[in-house]
Amino acid sequence: MNNFVIAGNWKMNTNIETTISIIKNVAEQVDQLNEVKSTIVICPPFTNIYVAAQEAKKSKHNIQVGAQNCHFEESGAFTGEISLDMIKSLNCDYVIVGHSERRAYFNETNADINKKLKAVLKNNLKVILCIGETLEDRQSHKTFDVLETQLNGCLQDIVENDMKNIIIAYEPVWAIGTGVSAKTEEIEEAHNWLRNYCEKKYANAGKTVALLYGGSLNDKNAPEILNVSNVNGGLIGGASLVPEKFVSIIKTAESLSK
Ligand code: PGA
Repeated sequence: MNNFVIAGNWKMNTNIETTISIIKNVAEQVDQLNEVKSTIVICPPFTNIYVAAQEAKKSKHNIQVGAQNCHFEESGAFTGEISLDMIKSLNCDYVIVGHSERRAYFNETNADINKKLKAVLKNNLKVILCIGETLEDRQSHKTFDVLETQLNGCLQDIVENDMKNIIIAYEPVWAIGTGVSAKTEEIEEAHNWLRNYCEKKYANAGKTVALLYGGSLNDKNAPEILNVSNVNGGLIGGASLVPEKFVSIIKTAESLSK
């Protein structure tokens, strides 16, 4: 696999005004490149997706937009929730499911995430599935047990053919928002393990599924991290809100693309 996926997760940041200005700035810089091989995805808060998609469309390259969450039911009495039909009507292409902040603060289980993931696929959108261990898991040598449990649960009933619409983001919880990414050896070990898991379970589709790293990925560490074997891109929080940093990561990905 040669081309990278560079995805920005804006979390609960930005408003309409700042959404427009960040995307405009990113697009202007990206448009200076002749060719862009990487898949670029930006995931703003729900309220800003529509304007983000409108602004992104002005770029001569393909900048795609995603949601950070969804509800798995089609519609109904779920006050405050957002359905996939609503998300689709915003010109959205991707949905993040299973982010560790959703697991930790909103008690999402692997079974909930599995329902969301299936609903995203049913609606012909692409999934960015997040998995990752806590510091406690790592210190007690449970990293790979935790990743396996998360993958088995989140990917229940998912077949080889579905994998073309799924991206997996490995995000060690202890590296998210801390400013300290995992070490390249740790990333390599996890991504090799992940590739092996996917190949065993999904044969050819497992060979090509994009495996992103997330957790304090920024413009400074991107050259090292994106060069790790089986790292096919990044899910970027903090640095994706700063156009110069986000574009610098895209340029690193471009320079490493074959
Ligand atoms: P971070 O967030 O880059 O700010 O660590 C990554 C994420 O939560 O997806």
